[in-house]
Amino acid sequence: MQKFVIVGGNRLKGTIRASGSKNATLPILAASILNAGKSTIYEAPQLRDVSVMKDVLSYLGAKIVSDRNTIEIDTSTIQSVEITEELMRRMRASNLVLGSLLGRFGRVKISYPGGCQIGSRPMNLHLKGLQALGATIQEKFGYITAEAEKLRGTDIHLDLPSVGATENIIMTAILAEGVTVIRNAAKEPEIVDLQNFLNKMGARVKGAGTDTIKIEGVRPRELIPAVHTVIPDRIEAGTHMVAAAITGGEVTVTNVIPEHLEPLIAKLREAGVSITVGDDYVKVQGNGRVKAVDIKTMHYPGFPTDMQPQMMALLSLAEGTSVVSETIFENRFKHVAELRRMGADIKVEGQSAIIKGVEKLSGAYLEASDLRAGASLVLAALAAEDGTVLENVHHIDRGYERLEVKYNSLGARMIRVHN
Ligand code: UD1
Repeated sequence: MQKFVIVGGNRLKGTIRASGSKNATLPILAASILNAGKSTIYEAPQLRDVSVMKDVLSYLGAKIVSDRNTIEIDTSTIQSVEITEELMRRMRASNLVLGSLLGRFGRVKISYPGGCQIGSRPMNLHLKGLQALGATIQEKFGYITAEAEKLRGTDIHLDLPSVGATENIIMTAILAEGVTVIRNAAKEPEIVDLQNFLNKMGARVKGAGTDTIKIEGVRPRELIPAVHTVIPDRIEAGTHMVAAAITGGEVTVTNVIPEHLEPLIAKLREAGVSITVGDDYVKVQGNGRVKAVDIKTMHYPGFPTDMQPQMMALLSLAEGTSVVSETIFENRFKHVAELRRMGADIKVEGQSAIIKGVEKLSGAYLEASDLRAGASLVLAALAAEDGTVLENVHHIDRGYERLEVKYNSLGARMIRVHN
């Protein structure tokens, strides 16, 4: 168990580089199963979630060599198609191997991932999609088994644009016979990155980034080793942008694709934050207290749910009253109680939080309940008047590479304490 001790009140100034995207790296690692050979992935972030995915693939029998942000993975040695409960419990996103194991081996068994801190997160859309492609699904004793003698391309209409379901269905359809069309697909940039990786591997996927994705099935022997550089992490970059705004600092975030940050840039500008957009960087300048703004989380290109907690920290200090509505996850206000301990005035009514901005937050003894809630509390602590102790830093390490090192390089005072 580790904690952060953060002394607030310093303006962050300087340049910070966003790492490669966690949510792109995870499905890409899972997709490497499909080609029974080697894949090389650059810019993979060194995060706890990525380590868990590597453990999952090693457990299945893959050979992995990692050097900093490069991962070489040979999946030709995979023997097993089953994932234990112990591994599934370590990370929900392990469910992303469902599609690629089924595609390559015609069989997969994983422990049911169950709910998590932010919501119940069912798998029904993943399973309906795999069933439509010809799999028989059994859910027994907490395990999901999917089996198919032959996978056949088909038309699939998703009830809602789930990111994970879209990714799993794409991966299964790669080696299915014929054409699969996914309608009402998720449009997140990480799905475009997955498509690019798969196509480098010899797959034929079109349309990612729109709501209709078309996959022409190929034969296993058509797949080749792929070398791919993962896109920058838009949520990490967004978190740094809010760090600049909340501390009234001036921070340039490099290694970004500004288009992916548009929903956040628009909201921050509306709140009065100055932002300069370059080709692959954004420069953010805080201008004192921000103005209150309303936010509703939506599927991409709407405002990302993964930035909602961080924005709530910022709006706690805004001039005026903001309303933040969470439409993606039913239980994503765990940070509210902790922000209140710091002096924030937030009331939750159903899926909305009403935030009356206060002039200052004070340091407190806090606990991170999940990844983005943890990030939100780090940001609030950076802006708070005195010291904060933040427990359960392991949640934050799931999605941010040594956040304290990055923020200290910008002038923050933040240390990691090993209990
Ligand atoms: C991914 C991201 C996560 C992000 C989320 C929404 C990864 C590894 N994680 O999660 O960081 O917060 O997208 O942008 O990429 N749903 C169903 N049935 C299903 C699947 C999903 O009802 O079968 C619901 C979920 O309960 C949730 C909503 O759909 O309410 C969105 O979930 P989904 O897009 O699937 O998120 P993930 O892929 O799990």
